[in-house]
Amino acid sequence: MKYSRPRGTRDFLPEEMAARRSVEQRMRRVFVRFGYAEVATPTFEHLELITAKSGEEIVAHLYHFKDKGGRDLALRPELTAPVMRLYVNELQSSPKPLRLYYFGNCFRYERPQAGRYREFWQAGVELIGSSSPEAQAEVIALAKAVLDELGLRNYELHVGSVGVLRKFLEERGIAEGEQCRIMGIIDKGDEEQLEEELLKLGLSEEDRSAIAGVLELKGERSAVVSRAEELLAGREAALNELRELEGILDALESFGVREYTLNLGIARGLDYYTGMVFEIYASKLGAEKQICGGGSYSLAETFGGKPVATSGFAFGFDRIMLALEKDGVELGGEEGAKIMVIPFGEEYLDRAIEISALLRRSVACELEVMRRKVKKALSYASSKGIDYVVLVGEETERGRVLLKDMRSGEQREVDIEELERELAG
Ligand code: HAM
Repeated sequence: MKYSRPRGTRDFLPEEMAARRSVEQRMRRVFVRFGYAEVATPTFEHLELITAKSGEEIVAHLYHFKDKGGRDLALRPELTAPVMRLYVNELQSSPKPLRLYYFGNCFRYERPQAGRYREFWQAGVELIGSSSPEAQAEVIALAKAVLDELGLRNYELHVGSVGVLRKFLEERGIAEGEQCRIMGIIDKGDEEQLEEELLKLGLSEEDRSAIAGVLELKGERSAVVSRAEELLAGREAALNELRELEGILDALESFGVREYTLNLGIARGLDYYTGMVFEIYASKLGAEKQICGGGSYSLAETFGGKPVATSGFAFGFDRIMLALEKDGVELGGEEGAKIMVIPFGEEYLDRAIEISALLRRSVACELEVMRRKVKKALSYASSKGIDYVVLVGEETERGRVLLKDMRSGEQREVDIEELERELAG
């Protein structure tokens, strides 16, 4: 009987894995160039860590279970909460700012479709300890730098603020929990439900239409800002948030990021965001086109730490791979062995093993382990795209082997001493 994979999971074959690793490496290099250091956290956490402030949207899609000791645990659906737990427990007294990055698998019990999986990978960063506009802008600029480094062309950066609406609601006496619920409804895009909920919260017709108007604002900076100012006239706390966002946009432009859409309709599906938020969409990906999401948030105090300014983002790594492919970007990746060592019969096997060990000091090579006749082994080598075959036979008694160039078919005797240098070159 054959077993199938659990729904929403994937296997990765060698070629795909090589491409994924190569993209991962390039991402890591950019994170490191911006001064970020890697951290890793467990694949599962206490359920409460995730339910504390991640938001209904995520909690509804958790994989959770009881372990044999009766503890409630959950597979991590994202990495910001785990990283902030780690920060509160281990790093609070470290010099600020802290720049951390991570790469790991996440789990969400969602309806699988193209670009949406139950196990997927995130690559992300958290910048802890600064609320300055330039810190928040750095995080956005870093996300863009990664995409540019990878060669992705078709993507759109949208920057907004959940702070504007949160402050608007706060000024009307609406508590944080209710604000989160409203943001969740906005994130789902259900306009009717939003209108109903705002009515239930006692917001006037004028407030409701101002909110609906702000949420629709999307486009070029100056046009969006001046319309938002009109809609928010007299609502000082919300206007302050808008000014704060403008400071971040100024810094972002200094980072050289000028192509973006100011989008005041971004609500994000997670409850911990407080101010600036951003999302990146790969235009060619269809329904699941969001390849990156992030913003400024507050979580440390939820986990028993001192309040600290934090911002970050996570790429959906699998969606990045899909977007690169759709964009026709050559993915490459580390290639397998291009050299093969084949003995002329069993009596030369030991010598072949020794020679392959010698070669592996500098090149990747594979050894014939099927005890095939040379002709059969050579046809395997050619089907695998091997460039050079080292044939080990009677010449070894003179310290030599036969080196066959598989492309030209040319074959010559080479000194074993010379072999490594020849093949490494
Ligand atoms: P998020 O938007 O929930 O944010 O997830 C980040 C990215 O993960 C999404 O933009 C998407 O590309 C990818 N993603 C989410 N769910 C799936 C899925 N089921 N299958 C494939 N890809 C998926 C966060 O998780 C925040 N922790 C980001 C953050 C970091 N905010 C501040 N710091």
